Amino acid sequence: MTTTDPAGHAGGPPPGCPAHASAPSEQAARAAMPATAVEPTALYSAAFAADPAAVYAELRRQGSAGFVELSPGVPASLVIGYEAALAVLRDPESFPRDPRRWQQTMPPDCPVLPMMQHRRSAVFNDGDVHTRLRVAVSDSLDRIDPTTLRQYVERSADTLIDDFADRGRADLLAEYARLLPILVFNQLLDCPPQLSASLVRCLAAIFEGGAEAAEANGELGRCMLELITLRQREPGNDLLSWLIAHPTRLDTQELMDQLTMLLAGGIEPVQNLIANALRLLLSDARFAGDLSGGSLPVDDALVEILWTDPPLANFGPAYPTRNVSLPDGTVLPAGRPVVVSYAAANLDPSLASDRGTGNRAHLAWSAGPHACPGQSQARIIASLAIEKVLDRLPDVELALAEDELRWRPGPFQRALTALPVRFPPVAVPEDPGGPLPPSPLTPTDGGTGGRRATTAGVPSDGPAPTAERQAAPADGRPSRPRWMAALTRWWRGQ
Ligand code: HEM
Repeated sequence: MTTTDPAGHAGGPPPGCPAHASAPSEQAARAAMPATAVEPTALYSAAFAADPAAVYAELRRQGSAGFVELSPGVPASLVIGYEAALAVLRDPESFPRDPRRWQQTMPPDCPVLPMMQHRRSAVFNDGDVHTRLRVAVSDSLDRIDPTTLRQYVERSADTLIDDFADRGRADLLAEYARLLPILVFNQLLDCPPQLSASLVRCLAAIFEGGAEAAEANGELGRCMLELITLRQREPGNDLLSWLIAHPTRLDTQELMDQLTMLLAGGIEPVQNLIANALRLLLSDARFAGDLSGGSLPVDDALVEILWTDPPLANFGPAYPTRNVSLPDGTVLPAGRPVVVSYAAANLDPSLASDRGTGNRAHLAWSAGPHACPGQSQARIIASLAIEKVLDRLPDVELALAEDELRWRPGPFQRALTALPVRFPPVAVPEDPGGPLPPSPLTPTDGGTGGRRATTAGVPSDGPAPTAERQAAPADGRPSRPRWMAALTRWWRGQ
């Protein structure tokens, strides 16, 4: 990799040298200027969401990186070649992670800031600071017992499936894939009931991305701080307590930022891996024959999705302070954020003969110092979640043609908007009936700001409403979705 100064001269001062760095305004001006006279491609567009592979193919005309906009007025270089992606990911010297200089040039309401703004977490730091944070996180993740994790997943999956199994149809995204990782994390953190209610509700609202998301984000911060304070006072046997007890001695802000990263990294991408792989399994004839058989090809479907539709499609933001040439000569200009497209790199035509379920060299988990430390946990959660659906609903099928499924616009995620399915109804254990006694998960309005919250703490307007959900009981009691009752039973261990 060649580093040049903005005029193209090799060598120059070391990256980040304050004596040679441009003022933010100059950087912004340069960042807004493409290296060539190419118009940036909008990664936030509906066209990109509908067919990202076509957009990546078009961008390849520019070389191993293309000029894109992450949101209106936010230019970036998108690295789309496989070799180029590896070169960038393995070269933190040329591609530092600290976004603070860049983010000063962005308006505070810039929609990509929540994903890209500086935090004291592993993603946004390099060198010793990164190593310190990363070791604390990976050591704590390594303490998760796989058997216990499997139990958490099975318990959560059964509860969610119980709620729709006898209905004969469901949206496996809203009613299953979106909720399951939240429930699993809730158990990994061993949240006390009152906080658990708020945490689950906030996370669901944030991932819903609706009007409540911003407020839920603020409330999530308060919940996390409360949980951290509680665990600092009363340690337990859970992920956060392990992080607090780690010899690196993270301070409270660092704990907040690691927890945010764990929740952001561990929930949304897992949800999308589950949904994307279920879509493949239910729509591709190569997998259809085996669904009700003994050996389900779930792992093959997961590997194929990690190659073709990785849940985190584009990320790993870096901020070169000098022009940097990629191996094929494509120049990444200084001051313009660099984002790695794991998805486009995986589809690099030069790999055509190498892709396949036997080859796991895809970049869905990234590579280099920031490669995902939660891979094994993610694989356990996703594969068990999928197996549960196929076991419990063996004749499940898509309720729409595959090409009628829609993808959520956005530069980073590869995420379906819904995954409607139908299946022959399956009997589920009888609901105990009658009014449910107060649940430990029922908020007493502490932390809910007076808004409605469900028994499980998930917003009552979260998953798509259905006729069953809306039906008011004959005795005039307020209607309550059955999945809330199921979650309450689950919480009580019934
Ligand atoms: C399907 C699920 C997942 C996918 C596709 C995924 C993907 C990724 C990718 C591509 C990165 C690199 C980001 C970067 O370079 O800035 C990353 C980083 C990270 N992931 Fe995951 N991840 C998943 C699940 C998880 C889970 C379950 C956890 C934890 C429980 C987790 C924790 C992290 C952390 C802490 C980092 C930052 C590492 C660092 O910067 O050193 N991820 N993940």
